[in-house]
Amino acid sequence: MKERIDRLAEEIAAIKVVSLEEVEHLRLKYLSKKGLVSVLFDDFKNVPADKKREIGQLLNELKNKAQQKIEDLKSQFGQQEDAATAGLDLTRPSDNIEPGSRHPLSIVQNRITEIFSRIGYTVAEGPEIEDDWHNFSALNFTPDHPARDMQDTFFIARDPDILLRTHTSSTQIRIMESKKPPIRMIFPGRVFRNEAISARAHCIFHQVEGLYIDKNVSFVDLKQTLMYFAKEMFGEKTQIRLRPSFFPFTEPSGEMDVSCNICGGVGCNICKHTGWVEILGCGMVDPKVLDNCGIDSKIYSGFAFGMGIERTTMLKYQIRDLRLFYENDVRFLKQFTGAY
Ligand code: PHE
Repeated sequence: MKERIDRLAEEIAAIKVVSLEEVEHLRLKYLSKKGLVSVLFDDFKNVPADKKREIGQLLNELKNKAQQKIEDLKSQFGQQEDAATAGLDLTRPSDNIEPGSRHPLSIVQNRITEIFSRIGYTVAEGPEIEDDWHNFSALNFTPDHPARDMQDTFFIARDPDILLRTHTSSTQIRIMESKKPPIRMIFPGRVFRNEAISARAHCIFHQVEGLYIDKNVSFVDLKQTLMYFAKEMFGEKTQIRLRPSFFPFTEPSGEMDVSCNICGGVGCNICKHTGWVEILGCGMVDPKVLDNCGIDSKIYSGFAFGMGIERTTMLKYQIRDLRLFYENDVRFLKQFTGAY
């Protein structure tokens, strides 16, 4: 009898359980009416009279230990369960999710896309990492052409050159290589140049390129398209001015200014005190470029333009410093809540 008591005591002391359910199983196993401890009590009547005192004491101790152990385990698991649900008020209303606002550059990019979609332009995107052919050579930049200096960029590899594109004009080439005219598309995207950062310039900025290739496209179509755009973007009173310029991939080439609506034409640091802000380069696609892309320049002609989204956004919202676009200052960004 003594041995049985000792064995059971050891067994109970060594018990390890992992859940509250197991604790209940143990209680039944040892302490219920038919449990192992209770069975020993039943056998107590067979213990000789002279041992009854000693064994009785041991039996009681065993029962107490078993009960204590079960209690301890119960409270241990009980507490864990409480901790998991403590402080959880399922009736509490949730925190407000504050709606954010679109970045001003996205707002303006979407607006540009929308304005051109109304006159039949569709949208495509090209890669930001380009090869020399798409960013320069196919666009008629010869290897030593000084125009390359004006678009100094970040090179990822040399010979063959892999670089961060300096303009969205690279997408013109990708599209003309893969599509047959008529083509009427715009290509928004991020571009990169090795430039000193100032209120007017950054080494990362955004452009939207436009490309229109068909039979009998003339400079008149280009000018009317740009005039339509400027008035839709900046308002009916907006004036445009086209200045002759040079790009290796357009002939003739021009740059378009719009009347400065930051200072109303009086002169400010954004319009360099001229009353005009340059927002895009444009021109008739050079026949050489069409041929480079497998489009017959005797049949087709077209125009292209590329505008800076930062510059356009500054004009539209009267923002005087381009660096604000990249600082992620919510005091700046919050001002565009509700703008579209
Ligand atoms: N890619 C030129 C630039 O970034 C702009 C341009 C685009 C000019 C299309 C002409 C035609 O300066």
